Amino acid sequence: MARVRLFKSDDATAVAAVARKAWHYTYKDIFSKEKIEEFLAAHYVPSNLVEGNTLRNSFWVAEDKGKVIGYIQIGQFQGKMKLFRMYLDPDYIGKGVGSMLLETAEKFMVQHGVKKYVLEVHPQNKLGLSFYRRKGFYEVKDDNTDCSSECELVLEKQL
Ligand SMILES: CC(C)(COP(=O)(O)OP(=O)(O)OC[C@H]1O[C@@H](n2cnc3c(N)ncnc32)[C@H](O)[C@@H]1OP(=O)(O)O)[C@@H](O)C(=O)NCCC(=O)NCCS
Repeated sequence: MARVRLFKSDDATAVAAVARKAWHYTYKDIFSKEKIEEFLAAHYVPSNLVEGNTLRNSFWVAEDKGKVIGYIQIGQFQGKMKLFRMYLDPDYIGKGVGSMLLETAEKFMVQHGVKKYVLEVHPQNKLGLSFYRRKGFYEVKDDNTDCSSECELVLEKQL
């Protein structure tokens, strides 16, 4: 049975390993292997993964029998509350772990008075998109979205 707890800096290498597996799985038909490695190298330097339990940065992991199997990070960005990243080890997809991570982050935001939050998702990430739509997110327009490859979709959810 998986459980969710706060990320500790000791988890950084395990989180980077989950990220590698999850990104190659999620983006295999969207980006080249080289591009995925480039993104991973830029965004998952273990020393840049920082502990947090505030509205500026909150970071949780899901673990199963002591092994990190997924993570979620939220925080404030350009004046908005944002879900920065949520990924699971593909072996654990579809077992309710993503729901547990999202519920943990949303409970924290509600306790801190957050009324809505946003995230960006690649338009071809069907798994991510269907999950977020089931969880009550809807698409909004945002001029600051990342268009470095193909424009990300911006989704918002009311809490
Ligand atoms: C998106 C993700 C975090 C969801 O987590 P998960 O643990 O797989 O999802 P859950 O098992 O909690 O299921 C949540 C809902 O999605 C549905 N679902 C599960 N697997 C599904 C699938 N393969 N296709 C469509 N819906 C699915 C479930 O029925 C459930 O709906 P419900 O809450 O109404 O019962 C996870 O699949 C993942 O890491 N995907 C790859 C990475 C990714 O896309 N991250 C987001 C990038 S922005």
